[in-house]
Amino acid sequence: MKFIRLASIVLLFCASFITCKSIKSPAYTFTKSVTSQSVGIATAHPEATKIGLAILKKGGNAIDAAIATQFALAVCYPVAGNIGGGGFMVYRDKTGFATTLDFREMAPAAAFADMYLDANGDAISELSRAGHLASGVPGSVGGMWEAFQKYSKLKDWKMLIQPSVDLAKKGFRITEAQVSKFNNRKEEFIKYNTSPNQFNSDKIWTVGDKLVQEDLAKTLTAVRDNGRAGFYQGWVADRIVDEMQRGNGIITHQDLKNYKAVWRDPIIGQYKDLKIISMPPPSSGGIFLIQMLDMIEPYGIANHKMHSPEAAHLVVESERRAYADRATHLGDMDYYPVPINELLDQAYIKKRMANFDAQKASISEDIQAGDFAESEQTTHFSIVDDEGNAVSLTTTINTGFGCKVVVGGAGFFLNNEMDDFSAKPGVPNFFGLLGAEANKIEPGKRMLSSMTPTIVEKDGKLSLVVGSPGGSTIITSVYQVIVNIFDFKTSATDAVQAPRFHHQWKPDIVMHESACFDETTRKQLMSMGHTLKDRGKIGRVEAIYVKADGSLEVVADKRGDDHAMGY
Ligand code: DON
Repeated sequence: MKFIRLASIVLLFCASFITCKSIKSPAYTFTKSVTSQSVGIATAHPEATKIGLAILKKGGNAIDAAIATQFALAVCYPVAGNIGGGGFMVYRDKTGFATTLDFREMAPAAAFADMYLDANGDAISELSRAGHLASGVPGSVGGMWEAFQKYSKLKDWKMLIQPSVDLAKKGFRITEAQVSKFNNRKEEFIKYNTSPNQFNSDKIWTVGDKLVQEDLAKTLTAVRDNGRAGFYQGWVADRIVDEMQRGNGIITHQDLKNYKAVWRDPIIGQYKDLKIISMPPPSSGGIFLIQMLDMIEPYGIANHKMHSPEAAHLVVESERRAYADRATHLGDMDYYPVPINELLDQAYIKKRMANFDAQKASISEDIQAGDFAESEQTTHFSIVDDEGNAVSLTTTINTGFGCKVVVGGAGFFLNNEMDDFSAKPGVPNFFGLLGAEANKIEPGKRMLSSMTPTIVEKDGKLSLVVGSPGGSTIITSVYQVIVNIFDFKTSATDAVQAPRFHHQWKPDIVMHESACFDETTRKQLMSMGHTLKDRGKIGRVEAIYVKADGSLEVVADKRGDDHAMGY
């Protein structure tokens, strides 16, 4: 009797404490939302979530888990997870100290401003998007090594990499989403690769097939045993340079040796009673997330409903203005004087919204950048450890499978991040984003990004860890999740799973997910002068929200195979 009573109390406790919403597939069950006591992790793939969580259980901190997760994603999520790309990390420790790590790819020393232009000066976009010339010098291994040196609690690099070595060797079952990605890209894999590998073979993938990556396991073993040097020097570096030579790429041994991840002060802003901690240049994310939040602050968005014409119009008009500035003023601040203070100046932000008309859409042609003195794939994960340290990390090889080239004998995809530079003023990149002088190609420079790993503090305490992939839509996805939670007062789960919309100044179109606006709202937005376009999925957010009782709401986006866990 006593036992039954105890068991039912435990059951009741669990039911009220752990609410899981899951989606089943043949290979995995994807958990989309978990309420946990103090530890949480959400990533784009169940294998990566499990590996990160195991490190937390072994006493690792959020940084240890992030390192293990970054390598795990390189194995189980090759469309975006990587060691051949780069990314950004925002870290806030339990004391409130915050910093960011920039492990963005760098342009090789032989890169130059006009490298993607033909003899007539026209941009040849294919060159910056696929094949060897599209790749910047990878930063992920350098970044993880740097994070390990500075903040690891376990201080055991091998322990962090070993699970990924094992996963690559033993293999894992591929999901439905992966099947279509692997099969649909086959022609490109065949076209751009110089050596045989699993991806350009004639195998037609089906759900549940095992992906074993022996070459990648060897590369990860070299990284496990030799740290940073295992990638940027030695036989792995030789394989990268051989690959470049076979495919007319320009990355050299010296470029690899010179790669450096950089700690940067975060961009910090205030939105109502929230402190927003986000990524500085070479990401545009932090600056424009804060700019947009500050633009809408005086207009009482919380008085409207989420996805109502009034709220959507206000958000779109802030996005239009922010993205106009992005095109002109943003680039790597090590090379270009990005006017950060001016862009975040409250008087300037107010001025940008001075011509906002609550009834009528502005026209992008009429909105220029402010004047001062002077598929798709990326992946995000969010982690909170049992001490309250938090990592928000977005990493990418740019578009799906990067430049489509797997390094022969080393088994990993290289990025096509060079397309994030402005190949020529006025020529849009893959995401339709424009750029100018600030983001022109220069040797050693880092290409402008939209990645927006972000941590939100409320009353001096950790409140939200959030980020997303999605190219140009990253900043707006993070923006809308924050507004949903803190203005529309939704749960974090509803905030993440709610449909999203996006405007990026040019083209002058409100892109939206199909379920976003009802017919009345659509009509009203169109009558205000907005052009609407259904564009499929926008972003894939992984968020951890600290609830009033201190428990965590760990949320994985339903738009993909994303998986949340916690305890
Ligand atoms: O850094 C950037 O902004 C882009 N390279 C990100 C690409 C991306 O998010 C693709 N994803 N879905």
